[in-house]
Parts: sequence; structure tokens; C-alpha cells
Amino acid sequence: MPRLAPSLFWRARREISPMAAQLLPACRDLESAANELRWIREYVQDTKSPIPDELRIWRLVEKRAKGIPLQYVLGTQPFGNLEIKCRPGVLIPRPETEAYTLHLATLLSQSHPPPPSLTIVDLCTGTGCIPLLLLHSIQAALPRTTAITIHGVDISPRAIALARANHAHNPPPSPFLPHHTLTFHQYDIFSPTHDPNSPPDKPHPTVDLLVCNPPYISPRDFARATARAVRNHEPRRALVPAPPQQQQQQQRADRYAAWCRRPEDVFYARLLEIAAYARPRRVLMEVGGWEQAVRVVGLVFGKQGEGGFGVGGYEVEVWRDEPAAGDRGERVEVAGREVVVRGVGRGRAVYLKLAED
Ligand SMILES: C[S@@+](CC[C@H](N)C(=O)[O-])C[C@H]1O[C@@H](n2cnc3c(N)ncnc32)[C@H](O)[C@@H]1O
Repeated sequence: MPRLAPSLFWRARREISPMAAQLLPACRDLESAANELRWIREYVQDTKSPIPDELRIWRLVEKRAKGIPLQYVLGTQPFGNLEIKCRPGVLIPRPETEAYTLHLATLLSQSHPPPPSLTIVDLCTGTGCIPLLLLHSIQAALPRTTAITIHGVDISPRAIALARANHAHNPPPSPFLPHHTLTFHQYDIFSPTHDPNSPPDKPHPTVDLLVCNPPYISPRDFARATARAVRNHEPRRALVPAPPQQQQQQQRADRYAAWCRRPEDVFYARLLEIAAYARPRRVLMEVGGWEQAVRVVGLVFGKQGEGGFGVGGYEVEVWRDEPAAGDRGERVEVAGREVVVRGVGRGRAVYLKLAED
């Protein structure tokens, strides 16, 4: 990371405030430092405390200056029209995730006639941002008669506790509809389940959408390519696929690793196994860039060299960061098959839709 010129610190002090100069090493430029200082001030004005405002602002600035992400310092991140609570130990929701979640909500709300029921499973749910935004957006768009059932799953007890807190913090627009449920389950998606409410290993022909933003960064990229604030403060297990703890699961994980060859792709092998079994109508898997997107499409087609695991019967698309920008005529060929590429930006997700739907 390049060092900052002393003149920049002088400008921050002179043009904004000494606190902006303190924020500069974490924010890296004047505009971000000014914005973050404004958000910290607004947060202090909007929240009550017996401690004087200026002292609280200094304390928050000091925390942020140590490189702690602003979302952990202030405790929240906007996500669509929601305010998602953020705590250390649980990944901060990203804007790219918000973009495809809103697009998914639009697709799910467009069916004519409206479906009598809708079942959604979000694996690796973290803060619960994806199912919460889906619930809010779909509830606003579909008739009240559509029964909506959503499950969020995560291995981390901290994530599940935060997801439940976020559910309480963002009650659905129509809270008194008993046929609308959102429940969170602590669960390792690599282990077989005996919990009748947990979806992964049992046939679930009525799942309309299986969505997952899994850990997908290689240990090497985590060490070299992620921002320092991410490396030092966000949970590694949310970003880098972790080796399973138990012997039995180790054998299963070895099998997935053999299918996909790259350790950072191992969750996709498991997700496709679940998709092959549960046959959800739609599947959305977030990926970390174009190359990974193409590898995952290769896994879906069972492409030689990407492992032998294929999932038939789905139309496959690659979504870029902003999928709502639509089909701009872009196509990519994988394993001799043409795949539609939607939107603009980096490769962000692989989307499957049951062909007969
Ligand atoms: C990239 S984060 C995604 C969080 C959230 N869905 C979002 O988009 O902000 C991945 C999540 O997967 C969870 N996770 C990691 N391994 C898991 C496993 N084996 N089973 C279930 N969840 C897992 C982590 O705890 C983390 O919350």
C-alpha cells in the first residue's frame, strides 16, 4: 500500500478537521475521510448517551483510525432499504450482494399468476441480510395470500444470533401474516442433517430459490489480495473455505475437493450436490470474479478438468455486479455450451433456473 504524502494530512487538517487527518490512513483519501467523519458525527447526534458528544466522536474516530471497518465501529450497514446490524465475527454485507438480492426479488415477484407459496433457502447467511431483504422486497410486491417460508443457515453461532437480532431490528412490512416465516438455523452445510427444518440434505421439491454467498477466497488470495481491514478484522471462516473438523466430514470434503480441484471452489461442489438432490427451481451462487464464475459453470456442466460433477436440467447464466442492467447480448462458451452473461461489472454470481420452469 503506497504511503500518504504529508501534504494530504495538512489539507485534511486545514480543509476538514484534525479528526479527518486522523482518519486518513484508514480512509486513504480526503473525500472518504470527510464522508466517514460526517457519518460518525451523524451517528453520535442520532444516538443517546450520557457521554459528551465530542468525546464519543473522538473515541469512534480513534477506533476507525486503527483500521476497524466503519460498519463495526458504528454497528450497522445499509442494505437495500434495511439497516443491518454488524458485529465483529460476522461478515459485513457488500453492495454487490445487495444488487443481486434485489434482482432476485424482482424475478421472484414477477411470476404470473402470483404463486400460492414461495420457499427460499439461504445457505451461509451471515448477518441474515439476503433473506431479510428478500422477505421485505417480496412481501411488498406479492399479494398477501402468498405463503412465504424462508430458512437461513450458518455454521457460526455468532452469525445466527446476529441474523436473529437483525430480524427483530427489521420486522417485515406486514408483521402479522402467520403464513410468512423466516427462521435461522445453526448448521454446517457439509454435514448431513437430522433437523426436519434444515433443508440441505433432504429432497425439497418445493424450494423456489436456493441462494448462497459462500466462502470462496483461496488462502493465498486472502493473504495477498484482500484489503488489510478485511484481513485483520473480518472473520476468515466467512471468506476462506475452512477444512472440516470431523473425520467423517473430512472424507466428504476430500471428495468435493477432488471434484473441483481448487480449495476455494469446494463450497460450489457441495452446493451443486445439494441442488442435484433437492432440485430447487432457482439457484444463485455468489462467486469472486469472472474466472471463478467460469469454473463454477464448468462444474455445473460436469466439464472435464473441472471435475466430474454435473447437474442437468438447468439453464445457466453468469451475472455481473449489476445484473439488473440485463442481457446486453454477451455470451460465454463453457464446455461447448453458450451461457448468457447479464449485467455490468465483475463476474459476481452463477444463476441456475430449472429448464422446465
Ligand atoms: C461470505 S459470508 C456470507 C454472509 C452473508 N450471506 C452475506 O452475503 O453477507 C459466508 C458465511 O458462511 C458461513 N459458513 C462458513 N462455513 C460454513 C459451513 N460449513 N456451513 C454453513 N455456513 C458456513 C460463515 O460463517 C459466513 O457467515
